Amino acid sequence: MGVPFIAGNWKMNKTIREAVDFTNQLRNLIAELDDREVVIAPPFTALYPVAEALKGSNIHLSAQNLSDKAEGAYTGEVSARMLVDAGCRYVIIGHSERRNLFGEKDAVINAKIKIALASGLKPIFCVGETLEEREEDSTFSVIERQIKEGLNNLNRDDIRRLVIAYEPVWAIGTGKTATPEQAQEIHAFIRHLMDATYGEHMAGDIPIIYGGSVNPKNISVLMAERDINGVLVGGASLDIDSFIQIIKF
Ligand code: PGA
Repeated sequence: MGVPFIAGNWKMNKTIREAVDFTNQLRNLIAELDDREVVIAPPFTALYPVAEALKGSNIHLSAQNLSDKAEGAYTGEVSARMLVDAGCRYVIIGHSERRNLFGEKDAVINAKIKIALASGLKPIFCVGETLEEREEDSTFSVIERQIKEGLNNLNRDDIRRLVIAYEPVWAIGTGKTATPEQAQEIHAFIRHLMDATYGEHMAGDIPIIYGGSVNPKNISVLMAERDINGVLVGGASLDIDSFIQIIKF
């Protein structure tokens, strides 16, 4: 497995000016760091200015969402090709806020993953169970369904370009982190599922990252787990000090 993958998902926060200021600070503060894959996901409006501010750095840019359509009369949508044009390397797909607040189903997520891959973007594909699903013991079956349907009809080469993010919905923005053991259990399950579906050792190539109330205090114990290859950070990625502490855990 490669270096730890640390991504900041800014969600609907930061103006262009705020995003560029943050980016300039970030690149100065981690200029010497070469043993991390650091990714930031600003809102759409800030993508291109942030891409310009990142030029010559080893920090990569991600979008938070994309359209499942290629182009045309889809008012308000943003295509994969536009994201590549704006300087993105990654795109977050299937975030629980998209699934739960905007009604995105597995089939749409599958279409988004396909169009992202076809355009050269690497999907950060999010899965995770709600509190209700965990309490009724359906965590494993929910994750399995999200993975099988989200990745329907992809081949091994496609799969190798994914990052999978396990984000238990009950831990997102709630201050409740999964314990390292709870996260490890699901990460190991995802790894076995990927091996079983796409051939042995396949999952060794795919970073499986954890998200849900990651902060400077819990990063080290999470990263100490065998199958946790990185983190997707929401709230704590908005503040430069806490994001730097997480990156440099
Ligand atoms: P959080 O968000 O770190 O604020 O819990 C994580 C995410 O939604 O990716």
